[in-house]
Amino acid sequence: MAVEVYKEGAAEFHLPRSQHVFYNPRAKLGRDLGVLAMRVEAERLERPLEVLELMAGAGLRSKRYLTEAPVARMVVNDANYESFSVLQQHVGDDPRVELHNELAQRLLSRFYLEERRFDWVDLDPFGTPAPYVPFVQGVIRWEGLFYVTATDAPVLCGAQRGESLKSYDAVSALGRECHEFGLRILVGFLMRRLVQANMHAVPLFSVFDGYCWRVLLRVFKGTRGFSIENLGFIVQMPDGEYRTAMAGVPAPVNYEWNSSTTIRWVGPLWTGPLHDHAFLGAMFKAAREDYFEPTRRFIARLQKELDELPIVYNLSTLADRLDRSVPSTRAAIRFLRAQGYKASGVHHSGNSIRTDAPLQVVLKLWEQS
Ligand SMILES: C[S@@+](CC[C@H](N)C(=O)[O-])C[C@H]1O[C@@H](n2cnc3c(N)ncnc32)[C@H](O)[C@@H]1O
Repeated sequence: MAVEVYKEGAAEFHLPRSQHVFYNPRAKLGRDLGVLAMRVEAERLERPLEVLELMAGAGLRSKRYLTEAPVARMVVNDANYESFSVLQQHVGDDPRVELHNELAQRLLSRFYLEERRFDWVDLDPFGTPAPYVPFVQGVIRWEGLFYVTATDAPVLCGAQRGESLKSYDAVSALGRECHEFGLRILVGFLMRRLVQANMHAVPLFSVFDGYCWRVLLRVFKGTRGFSIENLGFIVQMPDGEYRTAMAGVPAPVNYEWNSSTTIRWVGPLWTGPLHDHAFLGAMFKAAREDYFEPTRRFIARLQKELDELPIVYNLSTLADRLDRSVPSTRAAIRFLRAQGYKASGVHHSGNSIRTDAPLQVVLKLWEQS
């Protein structure tokens, strides 16, 4: 079979031309972030990491972790037979690697019974991670890291709201702010599942990278450290204003959709901070090689956003509503800060802002121009 050679980071891959095994350059950012977070974590622990990669595909991520991050041992698994044979060629000779070719759920159940725990558990499925999360809980070390991907954009972005209820127990929403809602629905879901298993977590970073959602969580024992204040809903009022709301606030009963009277609920979702900025700063410093330049720029964008503010307004949506042109994001941030409100850019949308300003104040931006 014909083979293509790819280089990414410090690793080289030999992939057969096939429908099932392919190189996806859009996933590079997620792999870069994983490598950098591993470097930071190994430095914190002052030892190399024990890693469990549940869905390794052809081993691109595995090879990059083994080549570029401090890894002591790594369990590498994929259920697909075709992927597995490429995986074997990529990482099978590395003495640190233990290879498996089985369903992640079975592997996790066995590791749980064997009391095997890992510093880093990596879950990178096609679509939603939801079916696998309950199995993951017993195998992450206390204070260990859980790196999760979701690629089910129609579900998390509100085109398939029924599927969102099924996978995440949450209502998603269509619209230009949908990636933010999706991100917070995913984080909220992971948090609730962990809490229900008598654990809790804090996000080290939570991103939509233009292709999929990726969240890195630090997992702790017990639920006492969990703040319920960070779980709630985002509510869109009839005038278009977004507000956060805790569970239990009654929604008005309204049987017919009417945009001037109906409140739109999104969630339940995570309303707390998306990132740990000290951890991100350490990742930035760990990105020493030139090939990390685009990822360094992405981390710098994360560092600048006020991620503790869950309300995001898309300036194009507001401009459409007013039938006016779209102001620059920088001008909008400057204007809101001058009014005494908090405001920043949004890492996944160049023409959106995070703010704690009421919508009426945001709309004044168009009055002054
Ligand atoms: C997105 S790909 C993984 C890509 C890889 N992590 C990378 O960065 O190159 C998802 C993989 O999950 C595997 N997979 C899907 N369901 C699985 C399951 N239940 N158990 C194990 N592997 C599974 C598929 O065979 C596929 O190779």
